[in-house]
Amino acid sequence: MKTEELKKTVSMMMQNSKGILAADESNKSAGKRLASINVDNTEENRRLFRELFLGTKGIEQYLSGVILYDETIRQKNNEGVPYAEVLTRLGIVPGIKVDMGAVDFPGFLGEKVTEGLDGLRDRLKEYYKLGARFAKWRAVIAIGDGIPTTECIHTNAMILARYARLCQEEGIVPMLEPEVLFDGDHSIEKALEVTTNTVSTVFYQTKRYRVDLSCVILKTSMVLAGKDYKEQSTSEEIAEATVRMLKNSVPEEVPGVVFLSGGQDPISATRNLDTIAGFEPLPWELAFSYARAIQGPALEIWKGKEENIEESREEFLKRLQLNISADMGVYSKEQER
Ligand code: 13P
Repeated sequence: MKTEELKKTVSMMMQNSKGILAADESNKSAGKRLASINVDNTEENRRLFRELFLGTKGIEQYLSGVILYDETIRQKNNEGVPYAEVLTRLGIVPGIKVDMGAVDFPGFLGEKVTEGLDGLRDRLKEYYKLGARFAKWRAVIAIGDGIPTTECIHTNAMILARYARLCQEEGIVPMLEPEVLFDGDHSIEKALEVTTNTVSTVFYQTKRYRVDLSCVILKTSMVLAGKDYKEQSTSEEIAEATVRMLKNSVPEEVPGVVFLSGGQDPISATRNLDTIAGFEPLPWELAFSYARAIQGPALEIWKGKEENIEESREEFLKRLQLNISADMGVYSKEQER
């Protein structure tokens, strides 16, 4: 195993006061983002959507990594440079989403299992050649009546473990993303129980399947009450529950933990990260790895129009800066103005 290379990549990715942008929406998800601003879902428009963010001057001050999608890693910027190379030149580690999406888990109504192991070794070899040095795999766990089942959690965790071991053999750092969804009317206590169980199971299986835990990054959801619960969790409750979940399920040898935003509004995602950072020192480096909570406000300004690019990029940089402040635990709401 290329342990030295993996460790070097992890330390580049988890540099202090930088975050990781998730720009890896599948064509279908990118289409949803584009539809929200009345832009057609064509290959060129998806490229322009990536160009908006990856072409912003100065991103290397805030980003240590960017997760790309299969289509994007094969695309070039306005100057004809492949996006992975654009990032590498800036000292930003290019990553790639390698799962093929979550599909219905047969026999388990309302639950999902993630596909994409078949042929993965060959795809990883190709992505490595294209410049990717880390890879993300998202598993989806829903909370509801009688779910998640043990079978759903274990199957997804076992698949995550197999993907992670394959990545490491190919010199690619696995970013394990077991996302516990915020959809539903469950309490924060329920979210804490399910997330702790899910993340613990992921590490139980990764250990069994001989993954080197000193060369992985965990990408997790924060712990909070469901969107439809009678009262929304406060930032303090979310931070306390999230830190408790991490302490009870993430081995200390894991070098880094990053958070997804999961549909939280951008300001909440920033504030919650800031409150979590207040619990440091923790055994792991922490960082954000948001998609919607960073790109959303800039997309609304852009609307697919050339004349809005500059203002949109300013908004993007602002959200990056605010999340860096949060990561350092020095964010305040006044900075939003
Ligand atoms: P969000 O921050 O929009 O949840 O996306 C992060 C991600 O990588 C989802 O897989």
